[in-house]
Amino acid sequence: MKETGARIKQLCELLNQHSYRYYVLDDPIISDAEYDKLFRELEQLENKYPELKQSDSPTQRVGSMPLEHFTSFKHEVPMLSLSNAMNEDEIETFDQQVLKNLEANSGEILYSVEDKFDGVAVSLRYEEGKFIRGLTRGDGFTGEDITQNLKTIHAIPLSLAINAVEQIPNVVEIRGEVLFPIEKFDKLNEDRVKSGQPPFANPRNAASGSLRQLDSQITAQRPLTFFAYGFGVLEGVQFESHFDSLHQAKAWGFKVSPTLSRARGVSELLALYRKAEANRENLPYEVDGLVIKVDSLQLQETLGFRQRSPRWAIAAKFAPVEEITKLLDIQLQVGRTGAVTPVAVLEPKRVGGVVVSRATLHNEDEIKRKGVLIGDQVVIRRQGDVIPAVVAPIVSARNGTEQEFVFPQTCPVCQSDLDKPEGEAVARCPNPSCPAKSHQRITHFVSRNAADIDGLGEKVVNLLLEQDLIHDISDLYGLTTDRLENLPGMGELSAKNLIEAIDKSKKISFDKFLYALGIRHVGERTAKILAQQFSDVNELRSVTEEQLLKIDEIGPETAKAVSKFFRDPEELLVIERLLNFGIEITPLEKPTDTKLAGKIFVLTGTLEKMTREGAKEKIESLAGKVSSSVSKKTDYLVAGEAAGSKLVKAQALGVKILSEDDFLSLLEEQ
Ligand code: IVH
Repeated sequence: MKETGARIKQLCELLNQHSYRYYVLDDPIISDAEYDKLFRELEQLENKYPELKQSDSPTQRVGSMPLEHFTSFKHEVPMLSLSNAMNEDEIETFDQQVLKNLEANSGEILYSVEDKFDGVAVSLRYEEGKFIRGLTRGDGFTGEDITQNLKTIHAIPLSLAINAVEQIPNVVEIRGEVLFPIEKFDKLNEDRVKSGQPPFANPRNAASGSLRQLDSQITAQRPLTFFAYGFGVLEGVQFESHFDSLHQAKAWGFKVSPTLSRARGVSELLALYRKAEANRENLPYEVDGLVIKVDSLQLQETLGFRQRSPRWAIAAKFAPVEEITKLLDIQLQVGRTGAVTPVAVLEPKRVGGVVVSRATLHNEDEIKRKGVLIGDQVVIRRQGDVIPAVVAPIVSARNGTEQEFVFPQTCPVCQSDLDKPEGEAVARCPNPSCPAKSHQRITHFVSRNAADIDGLGEKVVNLLLEQDLIHDISDLYGLTTDRLENLPGMGELSAKNLIEAIDKSKKISFDKFLYALGIRHVGERTAKILAQQFSDVNELRSVTEEQLLKIDEIGPETAKAVSKFFRDPEELLVIERLLNFGIEITPLEKPTDTKLAGKIFVLTGTLEKMTREGAKEKIESLAGKVSSSVSKKTDYLVAGEAAGSKLVKAQALGVKILSEDDFLSLLEEQ
């Protein structure tokens, strides 16, 4: 028995050691077959003597019993986020802010630099050197316990490798990112498509989907990996610098960013940023930038935190990414206003972390201007959340089989002749009952920022249209549970929930209602302006183009579209029916004469006491305007933390610059 115990312990140590060499160092010294043999020996002994099983046994990595649900846990030290620097200017601004906050007028800070991993953040807790719990980031304050799943990741040590001279930390929480390696991601998606499952959009989603499995045996089959980048709770060890702390993490058995290095002062920092950006495509996993951290932990402490992010670190994002792919086809989409938009169908290609297979080509002129032909190799580009775009064809790659796209004269859905007024780029379907238009108008009406009807996704809208249950938005309010519950895929409960959601949407503010109607040229902002100027729909019914034109910010096209809409008998009938169904529209209060009236604001940097959206709403509610770029017309620049190029431009143009506090006082004066 004693000997068996010793053998089990020895096997655990051996296997963990080989697993570390394979998964962390990428440098195995025994064959897979030899590993399997030792593993089976351990498995057999553990089955025979379960009481002798070690807490860090590698046999746990295959997964365990499925869970009912994940349990929430509070993070003892919150997992905050990072502010972004989008370019070199903004990195320089970050460096200046660090110096300023340290009350140093000049000097060179020592920074630590590493990859900004594009995966899933987790926190791993080790007590007396043993992995006891792993949490997702969650909202930063509370995460979910995904220990079972994390144990299946071979790059996460089940116990810390402790050198004889080192002390075992009482508690240490390792923070880092779980990643799905790119090459393996491509293979996973191939397999998923073959077996009829939808592919993951990008490696981050694949990592997150794999970690969210209640059955850890599924997670165990996903080749996830892990990189450490920081610490949460730390008891019983101390470090002087971030760089040292990551070297310790490495000694404990973790992988850290291979890019990890130090830079003194901003020029070295920028040189590293350029180098890393050029190298990003060579990494086996997705990164979206570098994370720059003040290296000294003492200075980090002096700098402290803003509300949600440290002052001592910044995520330096990389520039947009371009790729080359094939333009397979151009398809046409009919929008809610009848606009017929050509869409590029592309051979799927990953660009900046997302697989792109479609991109808008806007209109016929745009296709001509770009000179793209069907079958061309084209450059596509995207960054972050920005919609992917076709940049240009590669003319030199043509082989003569490419074909020009001929824009149709009739609507691809209802075959009505398209309208394309002189001087306008967009062709439109004029048929008010074109099914494509109804579909788009209804999905727009129910969307989050409009009537916000939960549970009415595109699929359900399609179903309701197909079953002839609705024809326009007003029909939604005539639906009943009886009618819905027998629809395919619906059922009693979802029918009830949907009717409740529809009922709830009956109370709607006037601006949201106007936006929801889907009037051409009336986005959220214009809807708000109209709602501030007019008290109800009746007032709008009699408004003339000239009256509308007098309103600041309403241009001739919008004026024309709005007055046309409220003179259209079909549209008026829909509104009347909505009102008859009991839609309750609450008017907006008109702003009084405020000092902010007509003043143009630009917001930049990170605000601490409010969100940017909140600041925008506040300004607009006081009749001010918010613009996205600084120009001579700008009245005020509100500069939050880490303000960048906009601040420089505003200074150059002599625009009045307000700190967040100045801005708050200005609001209070109103
Ligand atoms: S340090 C106090 N280092 O970026 C915050 N974060 O916006 C310390 N991330 O959700 C975070 N790579 O998951 C840090 N090398 C790195 C990182 C990194 C990726 C993620 C992290 C977090 C987000 C912060």
